[in-house]
Amino acid sequence: MATDIVRIFDTTLRDGEQSPGASMNTGEKLEIARQLVRLGVDVIEAGFPVSSPGDFESVRAIGLEVGDAVVVCALSRAVENDIRVAADALSTSKRPRIHTGIGVSPSHLRDKLRIDEATAVERAVAAVKLARSLVGDVEFYAEDAGRADPAFLYRMIEAAIAAGATVVNIPDTTGYTYPEEFGALIAGLHGNVAGIEGVTVSVHCHNDLGMATANALAGVKAGARQVECTINGIGERAGNTALEEVVMALRQRSAYFGCDTRIDAHNITRLSRLVSKITGIPVQPNKAIVGANAFAHSSGIHQDGVLKERSTYEIIDPAEVGVGGSSIVLSARSGRHALKHRLGELNIVPSDAEFDQVYQQFLALADKKKEVFDEDLEALVSDSERAAEEVYHLQQVHVTCGDPGIPTATVELITSAGEHVIDASYGDGPVDAVCNAINRIVGVPVEMIEFTVQSVTKGLDALGEVAFRVRSEDGRVFTGRGAHSDIIVASAKAYINALNRMLVSVKPSVSEE
Ligand code: KIV
Ligand code: ZN
Repeated sequence: MATDIVRIFDTTLRDGEQSPGASMNTGEKLEIARQLVRLGVDVIEAGFPVSSPGDFESVRAIGLEVGDAVVVCALSRAVENDIRVAADALSTSKRPRIHTGIGVSPSHLRDKLRIDEATAVERAVAAVKLARSLVGDVEFYAEDAGRADPAFLYRMIEAAIAAGATVVNIPDTTGYTYPEEFGALIAGLHGNVAGIEGVTVSVHCHNDLGMATANALAGVKAGARQVECTINGIGERAGNTALEEVVMALRQRSAYFGCDTRIDAHNITRLSRLVSKITGIPVQPNKAIVGANAFAHSSGIHQDGVLKERSTYEIIDPAEVGVGGSSIVLSARSGRHALKHRLGELNIVPSDAEFDQVYQQFLALADKKKEVFDEDLEALVSDSERAAEEVYHLQQVHVTCGDPGIPTATVELITSAGEHVIDASYGDGPVDAVCNAINRIVGVPVEMIEFTVQSVTKGLDALGEVAFRVRSEDGRVFTGRGAHSDIIVASAKAYINALNRMLVSVKPSVSEE
């Protein structure tokens, strides 16, 4: 089957900017526009010039910036001044398009515009004619077409085409329709609208019922050859059709649709992150294509499958959309295969007996933590390789600190021989004071190379996890960990843990660098 091209009309900078809190300045819009050109979109809807001086300026600036690489489109209502201002803003563009239109549903005609159908058609025709007198490319939108009487919609579209529209946009403005209905509405253009063969049919679907992508694709299946969409699906209310979803659906299932786009999908993830950063709208982790979990595998069964052959649970190669690769999330649901694989990636190759022990410890840890990270595995392997021997055990720690004041710590350790040893010291801060007091007891020179604190749980009473990395005199590195709701106690435990590892170590082991 021949592959038709579906044009991608990106409206991130217009409909996307209508997302609450997403407003962007001209510089930010330009940055996104450059990346949209790189992505290969066919049309950039750059703004609604009459709505604000900022939008006017953005349309002008984008027209200058992109040259003839893409069509630059400006929105207007079917109002003379809107159209003239749009044309003015587009004067910098080499390929300008005015996007004008009017409501066509009973709700819009009766409650918003307060006009009858005949008046709406008259205004639409006048708007398209005026726009066509100013630019060669005019797209007509029939707002709220999803809730319109199809017979009236078709009459309106026929009038717009006769008036000079080059593209006709059928928006499901309120996200009301279902794919079969929307597809039928688009299919019905053929046979009911004179002149439809000579124009491009565009679809513009909102996501109020979560149907935006499905409806847009139903439109394509029914003959639409332009899809209006936004990066990450941002847009008015529940948003718009997500560009990345449409592009990857058409690519993945091009045989089914008989269509593809000109998009270079490798840039999708980068652009998704850029738009999220600029608008401040985070991408939900389970978002198709660009969510953080889109290529992450959590269940043991899936992990086993993916490790044997990626396509068992992935229909898209992450590299195709610019993601480094699939990820295996180690958690309580992970199996032996995933654990062995990750250990291998860390160059940790335990014997079978050691692996059994590590696996049991991994399961115990995974029951306590949401996700098991590489450092956890290094610590686990190190634990299992050496007897969990404690040369020193923390019995108690007490600090005084403040401003003014000298941070001072007193620690009591118990040796493996059962001896209680107490000492005290001061330092630059309470943790430094604790380490100095411990050093006075242990008496082995070490170099501190890293100290990290992170909360394991949420809230002010969060469990804090501290990691210490220390270097012994012979240059080996040891990691120690400690967790406690008091961060000073966690630090003392972590430091002693690192020292214990160093003290029992007789040969380089997998946790040592
Ligand atoms: O949702 C809509 O109907 C629109 C039009 C202005 C195209 O955004
Ligand atoms: Zn819209």
